[in-house]
Amino acid sequence: MSQYDALIHAAEKARENAHAPFSAFRVGAAVRAKSGKIYTGCNVENASYGLTCCAERVAIFKAISEGERDFEAIAVVTDTDAPTPPCGPCRQIIWEFCGDVPVLLANLKGKAEQESSGKLLPRPFDASSLEE
Ligand code: THU
Repeated sequence: MSQYDALIHAAEKARENAHAPFSAFRVGAAVRAKSGKIYTGCNVENASYGLTCCAERVAIFKAISEGERDFEAIAVVTDTDAPTPPCGPCRQIIWEFCGDVPVLLANLKGKAEQESSGKLLPRPFDASSLEE
């Protein structure tokens, strides 16, 4: 797992910026582009709860907005005993923008698990589904 230490550490640092006054559930994420750069995100909540944006999507959209298109891995960090898997919408976004990449799920106690985005979202709907 050591090749992902820096990515997990970046997600842990990003978590410190989480804006989660409603749930108090702070999430950090970090995605590594094939350029070698790491882009981070935290969850950003809103009084209109449904407008909340998860940490994973913030990280990916930041990277996309900087011109990145190819990704190697994404890490998600929470302060829970069992590492937190991405929610459904984030699984979709991870799959669409990153493809089948390792997803590192880690907590603040140093526990880390690895799953593939393909396994997290079996039989996905994506651009290929739009072809007639
Ligand atoms: N959250 C994330 O940031 N990522 C996930 O994959 C799961 C949920 C956030 C959204 C909300 O701010 C808080 O966690 C509680 O659901």
